[in-house]
Amino acid sequence: MTEPDLAHRVAELRELLRDHNYRYYVLDEPSVSDAAYDALLNELRAIEAAHPDLITPDSPTRRVGAPPASHFSKVRHPQPMLSLGNAFNEADLRAWRERVLRLLGPDAPLAFVAEPKIDGLALALTYEDGVFVRGATRGDGEIGEDVTANLKTVGGIPLRLREPAAAAGHLAAHDPERPSSSVLRHSSVPSSIEVRGEIYMRSADFEALNTRLAAEGEKVFANTRNAAAGSLRQKDPTISADRPLRFFAYAVGPFSGIDLQGQWQTLGTLRALGFPVNHDARHFSDFDAVLEYCHTWMARRDALPYEVDGIVIKIDAFAQQNELGVVGRDPRWAIAFKFPAREATTRLLNIVVNVGRTGVVTPNAELEPVILGGVTVRNASLHNADYITQRDIRIGDSVTVKRAGDVIPYVVGPLVSRRDGSEQPWSFPTHCPACATPLERIAGESAWRCPNFGICPAQLVRRVEHFVGRGALDIVGIGEKQAELFVTSGIIKDVADIYTLTAEHFQGMEGFGPKKISNLLAAIVESQQRPLDRLIVGLGIRFVGAVAARDLANHFGSLDAIMAATQADLEAVDGIGPVVAASVVDFFRRPEEQALVAKLRTAGLRLSAGAPRERHSETFAGQTFVITGTLPGLSREQAAELIQAHGGKVSENVSKKTSYVVAGVSAGSKLTKAQQLGVPILDEAGLRALVGASDSGEPGTVSTAESASANPQLGLDL
Ligand code: IVH
Repeated sequence: MTEPDLAHRVAELRELLRDHNYRYYVLDEPSVSDAAYDALLNELRAIEAAHPDLITPDSPTRRVGAPPASHFSKVRHPQPMLSLGNAFNEADLRAWRERVLRLLGPDAPLAFVAEPKIDGLALALTYEDGVFVRGATRGDGEIGEDVTANLKTVGGIPLRLREPAAAAGHLAAHDPERPSSSVLRHSSVPSSIEVRGEIYMRSADFEALNTRLAAEGEKVFANTRNAAAGSLRQKDPTISADRPLRFFAYAVGPFSGIDLQGQWQTLGTLRALGFPVNHDARHFSDFDAVLEYCHTWMARRDALPYEVDGIVIKIDAFAQQNELGVVGRDPRWAIAFKFPAREATTRLLNIVVNVGRTGVVTPNAELEPVILGGVTVRNASLHNADYITQRDIRIGDSVTVKRAGDVIPYVVGPLVSRRDGSEQPWSFPTHCPACATPLERIAGESAWRCPNFGICPAQLVRRVEHFVGRGALDIVGIGEKQAELFVTSGIIKDVADIYTLTAEHFQGMEGFGPKKISNLLAAIVESQQRPLDRLIVGLGIRFVGAVAARDLANHFGSLDAIMAATQADLEAVDGIGPVVAASVVDFFRRPEEQALVAKLRTAGLRLSAGAPRERHSETFAGQTFVITGTLPGLSREQAAELIQAHGGKVSENVSKKTSYVVAGVSAGSKLTKAQQLGVPILDEAGLRALVGASDSGEPGTVSTAESASANPQLGLDL
């Protein structure tokens, strides 16, 4: 290529790279793959390396990170960087609006801009003739630190401003609701402008960074804000370059060459100039709508990919802002509506381990109680052994605890700087705390497991609790306390032993009167009829929840078939992946689980799927049967299945609505009641006659019923 051609290609590459960057960071709509982006960047790098005279300070290649600096030089802000007064509830917000109206006059027309308050750190970025020349931290508001070299590595910070006109149509079409350049009153880049905003880290990027740092034996960050600050304030810009820092612009400092009248217009302009502006910022003229916005985002904060600690509300018009002025460091024209904190610092008192139903041993933190989001937190998860060792979490440490959304509170990490030397390193137990069996590391995982399956009392208690739980066999009345008592006294040695419990086992237990005991025993009997998928859930196979259990039950139709299935058979089932399949194979390979299934079979549980069984006819549609006494050729279950296979329902209680009572030997009160109510009564032969002699292959059909007839002695009235 000739020199002019090269210069042309360089300009083209820079334009392309800037545009891709803009789409990625500002529009949130990446247009090329990372690989395609890298290819363009590499081409530009190669040309610049061969022709250093073509390098410019705003070239996208200059983001890589300058050589390490010994210190950050100080920068005096041309206008102080302010902070914000806080509001904690609606009353505080209304009081703020009243104060504003007192100062501006009761009839002043007010408009507001509300924006999520990102939990990061404030920055001031200076652009001269459209080029990024300096970036400084807020510092004390008057004097900050020059972090230009590090900021150049942050993808969302434009090294050169976009021509607003070029972006206008694009943005207006993008989303009319969002701050856009449609409010723009000028067409060229400002000759000079200071852009203010927040540097931050997304929650997922923060977790990944901490995991990486911990694995490398480095200190972890206590929260996203510390991570953003720590990553930015690196003496070596190449480290900053490697950190997932992001930027949102939300204000301007001094500027010239453009005309800005208010906050909403400013957001639109910043966006048009190429800055990432929060998509969720909104303009309001109705203050009640502002309050609603605050409440909505307080409830939805988990839906955002970054941490927000509140909402910033600003008076829109700059003229009104100037009139309102500043008290101390807080502007009267803006306020922060603060959300409840979700992180707290407290002391780690002890680490205890719990043995779960599948034998997985998990460490838990006992904490000095701390109030977090209105709840007192005493315990928090420590995830697993690696989590503790990699983060070097010690007993006695000050730790950050996080509680967000539905997530169980967990320890983020220790505050190493607060150590006084008294903290004690902790090591994971080598043996099960419940049964002293040596723990095993699960292959490919960070988890340790007690391999004393089905016998370890801690596992067994958890398994009993799980078995009787609502999603499983749903036996109301057995709780943690009873499970523990029966397991420690040896009455329950596996979950099938629940079916050997009698009234005597409960007598004398606190809260167990005769009524409760009889209900509980009835619940145990009733649970034998739960469908196969519920029994599968109840077995407590690792990774097998309600959905996988239903898939398995529907596909295989019986527990025997599932037990006989290979890894490949299981993976062939829609919705069952290799991890679940391996866990199922592993579970049924164990002799103790095979013995358990045998016991459950003897106990009368349903080991095959009932629902998908073929319907033979609709003969009994809309009819309800009650079965009582012992039938000569059918068990009660078989009789019930026969009735259901022909569309009928089976009920326990006789009423006027009962269509038939099927009575066998030693039928008692139900037969008497049927006679009193005039409900037709059948014997087994009568039932078979109704089904029809042609039917065959029924569950439990021993013979066809050619000679079947109504039994006149039982008063059959057909
Ligand atoms: S406006 C009035 N807007 O909150 C000028 N600040 O407590 C104050 N912050 O130092 C800045 N998101 O670090 C403003 N959308 C937003 C913000 C925001 C986060 C931070 C900023 C500031 C602090 C004030």
